Amino acid sequence: MPNVTFRQLRIFDMVARYQSHTRAAEKLHMTQPAVSMQMKQLEESLDINLFERQGKSISLTREGRAMRQYSSNIIQSYESMLEYVDEIKGFRQGQLVISVTTTANYFTSRILAAFSKQYPQINISLDVTNRQNILAQLENNEPNLVIMGEPPKGHELKSEKFMANPLVVIAPADHPLVGKKQLDLDKVLEEKFVVREPGSGTREAIERHLKRFGKICTSGLEMSSNEAIKHAVAAGFGLGMVSKHTIDLELKNNYLKILDVEGFPIERHWHLVSRKGKPMSPIAKAFRSFLLEQTRQFDDEPEIGRQQH
Ligand code: PGA
Repeated sequence: MPNVTFRQLRIFDMVARYQSHTRAAEKLHMTQPAVSMQMKQLEESLDINLFERQGKSISLTREGRAMRQYSSNIIQSYESMLEYVDEIKGFRQGQLVISVTTTANYFTSRILAAFSKQYPQINISLDVTNRQNILAQLENNEPNLVIMGEPPKGHELKSEKFMANPLVVIAPADHPLVGKKQLDLDKVLEEKFVVREPGSGTREAIERHLKRFGKICTSGLEMSSNEAIKHAVAAGFGLGMVSKHTIDLELKNNYLKILDVEGFPIERHWHLVSRKGKPMSPIAKAFRSFLLEQTRQFDDEPEIGRQQH
């Protein structure tokens, strides 16, 4: 009988997810040679090839893809078992596995810090990535919970809407359009814009919104993080469109200003998302209540979702 260990299955799952020994090693806090060695041993024990190697890149073979299904089921059952143990112990310890979009991370970190103070025994694993990557994680049934702009349609997901997430047009503080009332959208779109990368939920929402007006925004520069956009806008590269949650500090310090533009802010909300068939662990339930409670206070603040100049 092949001698396959649970640890090898976990490593295999991570390598399959990232299609890279190096990324898997980073995530698992292992060295890359240790990951490669474990995968070699797994292939030897099973006597099948799990990966195809082309130069530096690897991908799953047909057998590897089938094995991934089995290994995810085993890992999921193992996690359910731990959740059951947490439940009977009243979650004195355990893990919250949460993924949030890069934009949601601006408020999530604060909430997670407060949650962790209240439940110091809980170990939190947070992954921050863009919408497209989160959708892939949901497909693979990875996180307990996800916080994102909008849940995708047609997936087996449960989603709960909370807290407003207005998208606003930002400019450097000395921009000539700052302070002007109800700017014409066409005029604003003539400006150069710094936009997020394809795969970003913010970008998708903006494109969808402008399409309703029959407009598009031609970008002068594409960047893969809100931080990079804010720096570029503050440096005078052009205007930007971002979630208001990403610019609290810059508004306070007067580095950036929100423009009053026709059709803006785009009214959005955050969503807490999980798989339909997957029972919520007691820790995930505790975090859900905590999050909803904390963010309710923001929604009660009158200026959220409104213009601030
Ligand atoms: P993203 O997130 O732009 O960082 O992908 C926004 C969202 O969740 O819609």
